[in-house]
Amino acid sequence: MAKKRALVTGLTGQDGSYLAEFLLEQGYEVFGLVRRSSTVNFERISHIQDKIHILSGDLLDQNSLISAVAEAEPDEVYNLAAQSFVPASWGQPVLTGEATALGVMRMLEAVRRVRLDTKFYQASSSEMFGKVRETPQSEATPFHPRSPYGVAKVYGHWITVNYRESYDLFAVSGILFNHESPRRGLEFVTRKVTDGAARIKLGLADELRLGNLDARRDWGFAGDHVRAMWMMLQRDEPQDYVIGTGATHSVRELVELAFGCLDLDWQKFVVQDERFLRPAEVDLLVADPSKAKSELGWEPTVHFENLIRMMVEADMKALGSKLSEQRSS
Ligand code: NAP
Ligand code: GDD
Repeated sequence: MAKKRALVTGLTGQDGSYLAEFLLEQGYEVFGLVRRSSTVNFERISHIQDKIHILSGDLLDQNSLISAVAEAEPDEVYNLAAQSFVPASWGQPVLTGEATALGVMRMLEAVRRVRLDTKFYQASSSEMFGKVRETPQSEATPFHPRSPYGVAKVYGHWITVNYRESYDLFAVSGILFNHESPRRGLEFVTRKVTDGAARIKLGLADELRLGNLDARRDWGFAGDHVRAMWMMLQRDEPQDYVIGTGATHSVRELVELAFGCLDLDWQKFVVQDERFLRPAEVDLLVADPSKAKSELGWEPTVHFENLIRMMVEADMKALGSKLSEQRSS
């Protein structure tokens, strides 16, 4: 039987790398969309790079997306690419709208123009719930986004629903709560904290500057969440799902846990810095993942404490080997 073909946008990102790994394990032929940059940034996919067909394209460029879909002829498209860092969306709201909102429509157009029987996954976000109208948040909770990023994701969600209803496309929107891993970008709070704690432990830094310690998030493991994306596309009917662990923790609890893993008293090192406060905050996110559990059979395998421990250990190892390389050179 011919291998199933998948096209993943955002291949070089955290989720793209985990999803590509997962699809290869499932026996897929994997195509990944990568935008041109002056230096190659394949750090997260270097171990699987030879097994993936890399295609050049940009969410801002419609023709490149049509070409990528035409070349890959995918059974499944996973649209993970986006400007995904919330604070950057206030600094670059137009770019965020172009990539995170209109980019979704361009990918849907590419799929519609090239072939109609491709299944489409859109990486939607719990940021859409923003100033939450109810707790926990489910597929039925109304949106109230609090950042240009969140607003752009609401467009991405509704254009996905609209293409499903307009063109009978198998298009789903996965509303994913925060998910983290040792591959998380260094600017996101979990990785900033685990990397920061490891640096302090190793004598490479003496403080960590953070913003709002009271914000609460439903933090899961990226490896678990990408599996849910795939599960959504294996259903007979396209439907949208909320994916999260159902537990919420504050940034303060995160800091206490990460520093505690290294026997450090966080209060001696963490400095609150208003530069990291946001013009409008999302105070509390926590998922009601019951629909995903009952219909997809999806459940998280890694919970908050183990996730943070895994990230602290990975940062200690990575920084430790860099240090010994420097010392021996
Ligand atoms: P990430 O690590 O920031 O990766 C984003 C990816 O998008 C990168 O590969 C980036 O390429 C690519 N990209 C950005 N702009 C592009 C453009 N104009 N054209 C083509 N590619 C572009 O994000 P992530 O954490 O993996 O998240 C994946 C998706 O899920 C994103 O859409 C994000 O908004 C959404 N999401 C994430 C979470 C989460 O907690 N991680 C939760 C809900 C939803 P470069 O490497 O070249 O920058
Ligand atoms: N980044 C960051 N840096 N966040 C901080 C800091 C800091 O120094 N100090 C406190 N925080 C708080 C933020 O104010 C926010 O309330 C929370 O930590 C989480 O911030 P991020 O890790 O940057 O993630 P996010 O929740 O804004 O967005 C992530 O999750 C979304 C899903 O809910 C991103 O991955 C988005 O792309 C994703 O859609």
